[in-house]
Amino acid sequence: MSSENLSLREEILKLKEEKRAIILSHNYQRDEVQDIADFVGDSLELSRTASTIKCDIIVFAGVHFMAESASILSPDKKVLLTEIGAGCPMADMIKVDSPRPVRKSFPGFDNPPSYVYPPEFTLRDIRAQNPGVPVVAYVNTTADIKAESDICCTSANVVKVIESLPDEKVICIPDKNLAMWAARNTKKQVIAWDGFCHVHERVTPEDIKKARAEHPGAVVIAHPECRLDVLEMVDHVTSTSGMLRYAKASAEKEFVIGTEIGLLYRLRKENPDKVFYPLRKDMICPNMKKTSLKSVLRALREDNYVIKVPEHIRIPAKRALDRMLEIK
Ligand code: 13P
Ligand code: SF4
Repeated sequence: MSSENLSLREEILKLKEEKRAIILSHNYQRDEVQDIADFVGDSLELSRTASTIKCDIIVFAGVHFMAESASILSPDKKVLLTEIGAGCPMADMIKVDSPRPVRKSFPGFDNPPSYVYPPEFTLRDIRAQNPGVPVVAYVNTTADIKAESDICCTSANVVKVIESLPDEKVICIPDKNLAMWAARNTKKQVIAWDGFCHVHERVTPEDIKKARAEHPGAVVIAHPECRLDVLEMVDHVTSTSGMLRYAKASAEKEFVIGTEIGLLYRLRKENPDKVFYPLRKDMICPNMKKTSLKSVLRALREDNYVIKVPEHIRIPAKRALDRMLEIK
């Protein structure tokens, strides 16, 4: 480690102690940020930790919706996002409502087996056209979307969440890939929306063929934010922490990893006897990479950037998150 990073680390650890702060990091963060964190995990684990952790300040090394979820679950704590510009383009794709005129009908709309709503539809449009159908919101959504949803899900529990509902039909927003994957794994009808993660959406079946040719003995694992035609070609589909558990438990020695490359750091650290290859070297989330040790230190020093969800949104959003967290 560079001497600059060593001194940044020392300052962060000192301030963290003084301010009774806890650092949470997503699995996609830079190596040195993961190393300074008190807890590193996937979206589900981070939500669970944020809801139970004892501290005065939560420093969130991740993206905006994650810090919002921490604020929703822990309103008594100060929640700091390390970089205010670290958003999630997928979370920002869907809006609760919009002043724009929207098209109200589409060919095939009336009887879709798993219909994908086009992007000009807002959450309220979809609700109005499917009265009584519950909305399952991926945690990668803004707080106001969660507030108008029935229950949240993460990539780790989407099928369990859908199965927990008594309804035969569910609306699953905003990631069409996650929704399609869930539809594949449940008998229920899933109505999707046309959102996607640009990091995972870029993977094609060609990439899988190439990876299999280059690493014939390797197990190929992919995140459910990848396209369904990609997911159908891999050996295992799971969330980021699901990949960590799978690799650790597996007797296999080589793995191709189809998710943001930040996960490879933990995979390699926790499994020194195994080899991990990125499915594509350009699976990099620029927003996740905005946070550096300097950002963590600045957050602690200046108490910024504070993420506080207003109560009229926080309370209904918490209902949707709590309902998810109750599912074991
Ligand atoms: P998980 O950590 O839930 O696997 O999600 C990945 C992701 O894209 C978070 O933004
Ligand atoms: Fe959003 Fe994709 Fe980045 Fe996750 S990896 S924060 S879903 S853009």
